[in-house]
Amino acid sequence: MITTSKRLEGIGEYYFSQKLREIDGLNQQGKQIINLGIGSPDLPPHPDVIKTLQEESAKPNVHAYQSYKGSPVLRKAVADWYATWYKVELNPDTEILPLIGSKEGIMHICMTYLDAGDMALIPNPGYPTYSSAVKLAGGTTVPYELTEENNWFPDLEQLGKEVTALNQQSKGTVKLMWVNYPQMPTGKLPEASLFKQLVAFGKQHNILICHDNPYSFILNDEPTSLLSVEGAKDCVVELNSLSKSQNMAGWRVGTLCGAKERIDEVLRFKSNMDSGMFLPLQLAAATALGLPKEWYDQVNSIYRARRTKVFELLTLLNCVYDESQAGMFVWAKIPAGYKDGFALSDEVLYNANVFITPGGIFGNAGNPYVRVSLCSSEEKLQQSIDRVQHFLTTAKVTA
Ligand SMILES: Cc1ncc(COP(=O)(O)O)c(C=O)c1O
Repeated sequence: MITTSKRLEGIGEYYFSQKLREIDGLNQQGKQIINLGIGSPDLPPHPDVIKTLQEESAKPNVHAYQSYKGSPVLRKAVADWYATWYKVELNPDTEILPLIGSKEGIMHICMTYLDAGDMALIPNPGYPTYSSAVKLAGGTTVPYELTEENNWFPDLEQLGKEVTALNQQSKGTVKLMWVNYPQMPTGKLPEASLFKQLVAFGKQHNILICHDNPYSFILNDEPTSLLSVEGAKDCVVELNSLSKSQNMAGWRVGTLCGAKERIDEVLRFKSNMDSGMFLPLQLAAATALGLPKEWYDQVNSIYRARRTKVFELLTLLNCVYDESQAGMFVWAKIPAGYKDGFALSDEVLYNANVFITPGGIFGNAGNPYVRVSLCSSEEKLQQSIDRVQHFLTTAKVTA
């Protein structure tokens, strides 16, 4: 009898991997589902990025194992990118650690800092990987709720009291806090005052604030880093990613930025997990990070046009949304009459052959919401609108 480890208890299969199987089944029945769920950019990277990969990979001397710390060329490109866009100075030799996508960084950070019983503050709603990584590392999640009423920001005063109580009552301590602005799934943009408060909170409670920042270039004119707050490096690390801003999700390139001590600590764990990244890919990533403003503008003009269509779709479904949100999705409140976002998502899937994500998969505070991805063409989005319109009209006639 083969049994799995205890650490896998309570860790389910990732929601999307299950749902994609169901969608595959429906497609095999001929349904041709339009999937507006996952945020994987459908647009290609810049041609110069592909060219770098092609040219570099044709060289004979680039196929060996690479440094655990990443290529100096990529680290310098990250430092320049942070200086140009975020006005943050990073030492490319010591304060940057290239990652095989930022998702692995979430796990590495949890493995580096959490012992059994230690706690990590997790946004609800938020990216589900924060909580699985904390649990897999043996830690305990302490969800903090983000509400529309509080501007999708944490109530730091209340949370501070909770942290003090938890540190007194529990065997472990609250060591990490996961934050992410522009926030996924709510699309909430950061504000300078919140960022300052987060740094003060980290210092006051001796918590490492882990800022996950993959969406700062999507539908947002002011990319902001939590590391730009004065003194942030004392208690902040930041993950960033080329998956969304550079359309390179499948390439798996991200980065961890922070104080030298933090980078060294995480590297102690990570260097036991992988053996570096293919050099041509790192060099191509460096090319991507050097792209000018026009690149981001052109990508965003496509997302903006798509977002208008998504607003139209959500309006048809009587959902309510904030038009100023950023990132690769639209987050919307479902109308009264549906039990939760799962009910609305299933209704649209089974009757209109369109999949939209139920907000509850991001935590129970997301239950009355749905999330629609902008990673489909305007044509596909129009087709979704037509299908939903058709379903709603026939449902009305039959009622
Ligand atoms: C909030 C958030 N963080 C991290 C990631 C992972 O990104 P990467 O492709 O860099 O691993 C995602 C991907 O969807 C995300 O939504």
